Amino acid sequence: MERRPLGRSGIEIAPLVFGGNVFGWTVDEATSFALLDRFVEDGFNGIDTADSYSAWVPGNQGGESETIIGKWLRQRGRRDDVVVISKVGMLESRKGLSAANILTSVEESLRRLNTDYLDVYFAHIDDETTPLEETLEIFLRLIQDGKVRTIGASNYSPSRLEAAMDLAEERGLARYEVLQPLYNLYDRADFESGLAPLAQERNIGVICYFALASGFLTGKYRSKDDIEGRARARMLGKYFDARGMRILSELRTIAEEESATPAQVALAWLISRPAVTAPIASATSLEQLNEILGSAQLQLSEDARVRLEAASA
Ligand SMILES: NC(=O)c1ccc[n+]([C@@H]2O[C@H](COP(=O)([O-])OP(=O)(O)OC[C@H]3O[C@@H](n4cnc5c(N)ncnc54)[C@H](OP(=O)(O)O)[C@@H]3O)[C@@H](O)[C@H]2O)c1
Repeated sequence: MERRPLGRSGIEIAPLVFGGNVFGWTVDEATSFALLDRFVEDGFNGIDTADSYSAWVPGNQGGESETIIGKWLRQRGRRDDVVVISKVGMLESRKGLSAANILTSVEESLRRLNTDYLDVYFAHIDDETTPLEETLEIFLRLIQDGKVRTIGASNYSPSRLEAAMDLAEERGLARYEVLQPLYNLYDRADFESGLAPLAQERNIGVICYFALASGFLTGKYRSKDDIEGRARARMLGKYFDARGMRILSELRTIAEEESATPAQVALAWLISRPAVTAPIASATSLEQLNEILGSAQLQLSEDARVRLEAASA
């Protein structure tokens, strides 16, 4: 399996990361274990989670996803084979990026994950009420203490990311070595206009989320009526416009030409983007997982990429 350097972090990941927000939400513990087993058996290694997953499910408090991953890591003894990625800052009871909050949250995440270090620790969302310096100082301490190998920023604007990078350099603080932006064939503008050039210029690794636009890009929903009552309906609604339909139509055409599926083509396109290290996607069954893992083997032609970019422009 191909491994790609995650920016300058020294960490190497396979070109598809498993999205852990389904654990404790749309996937129960037994299926979660089966999905993780298959994922690593096939040579993939990156697993993305957060303290806040999956707090939006009635009866959950957050931490459910980390707990399932932690049980799996302990039972299978596979800690050294995987790149564990978690986040801080969005859980309702542990909001923000203050030093005190990060110090408490990291211990809770480590305990749930049954590990003594995280490979990548993300600021889940920018916190403009805490000085950047305070956040980057405490992240540096976590790295020096061996609790975190590298840090990342998710949902940051280009200007705030640049400010954090400059401050880290000037003061010798921890540098965000990885980005986690929203990016897929439909949601392109924000990432491509600002963060992507910055990531390439400064050699920052990029793992992008909602790679399948919450399932829209698999082509399984023919119209908006099909999403009614689905767990992801709230996120899916916006995609059913003329541009969304154009993208799906081109995905289906190219999938047929390549003897692949729309989901595989959508992910292969992301994997081929110069600023992207690996997309993050999730699956709720082994069948779905087998399909999306196949994207790592699919090489799109220049012509296919140009057509996808025209359809999604
Ligand atoms: N940093 C952030 O702020 C942030 C925000 C969101 C997500 N994330 C991360 O990114 C990850 C990816 O996002 P996501 O999982 O929400 O969305 P996604 O990858 O865009 O969509 C995945 C969903 O699509 C469906 N699907 C996947 N493969 C399929 C297939 N072959 N055929 C049919 N349906 C298929 C499944 O849902 P159904 O079976 O339910 O249809 C699956 O859970 C998350 O797990 C999380 O780790 C980060």
